Amino acid sequence: MNRISGELFKDLPGRSGVPLFAAMIAQGAGAMATFGLSFAVEYAFGDPLPIMLVLTGQGVAAAVIGTRFGLARWWIPINLALPPLAGLILTLRLPGWLYLAAFALLILFYWNATRGQVPLYLSSRRAKEELLRLLPVKPDIRFADLGSGFGGMVLWLASRRREGDFLGIESAPFPFAISWLRTTFAGLPHAHITYGDFKNSDLGGFDVVYTFLSPVPMTDLFSKARAEMKPGSLFVSNTFEVPGETPNQVVELGDWRGGRLFIWRM
Ligand SMILES: C[S@@+](CC[C@H](N)C(=O)[O-])C[C@H]1O[C@@H](n2cnc3c(N)ncnc32)[C@H](O)[C@@H]1O
Repeated sequence: MNRISGELFKDLPGRSGVPLFAAMIAQGAGAMATFGLSFAVEYAFGDPLPIMLVLTGQGVAAAVIGTRFGLARWWIPINLALPPLAGLILTLRLPGWLYLAAFALLILFYWNATRGQVPLYLSSRRAKEELLRLLPVKPDIRFADLGSGFGGMVLWLASRRREGDFLGIESAPFPFAISWLRTTFAGLPHAHITYGDFKNSDLGGFDVVYTFLSPVPMTDLFSKARAEMKPGSLFVSNTFEVPGETPNQVVELGDWRGGRLFIWRM
């Protein structure tokens, strides 16, 4: 099994790519094993196993299989809890459209997160204040927030620095729509939000590039910033370091997350 999983699954999403797919395969395999066992028990003894026992067994099997696929440890409780929780929720007999609505909402929020592995959470007030302090004093300043969420950072800075250009780039549909509406009606013509993947944006024109993402994209993004950003410009990462790259400055935010700004001068 070791060698087989190593060979067969070495490119499986749990190790590289999309962990969600690995989790789905693990759940599918777990379901086949435990429901298969239940059918066998029914065939032999006339009664199937209790459904909650089968679902709990599926969770255990999925957690084990998911770990073999290379999923991170924090997937273990998710894989364990999902089938019995789904069973419990089904006993509530909620109307079908509620599941569809919840699914649609999740897609609109986390459209990009399955692949990019960057969820949505927002910069604290302290992060905004520290970033404002870091902005160079020049009238034609160009700032970008890569993965701008609801546009809070862009709008906050733009409302305090009335010249220059403040851009947010966002690829999740719902946060983009909200931030686009906010910037449209904010009365700040130098604040903009564009829909798209920041990996396709040229970072060459910006004086400050801000990110608050996750550990996953940082190495590639930093290489891109190094290649494209102009000398003297700032690359700032909230909370997430870049492996092997020592920042020029670290600012403790003292917020509830214990966040830090890592700042590199290009
Ligand atoms: C942790 S949130 C940060 C939001 C905002 N920058 C702030 O600090 O409040 C990260 C955001 O990046 C977005 N995102 C992730 N990958 C992206 C990509 N490749 N291109 C554009 N946006 C992306 C996510 O949808 C999410 O809204």
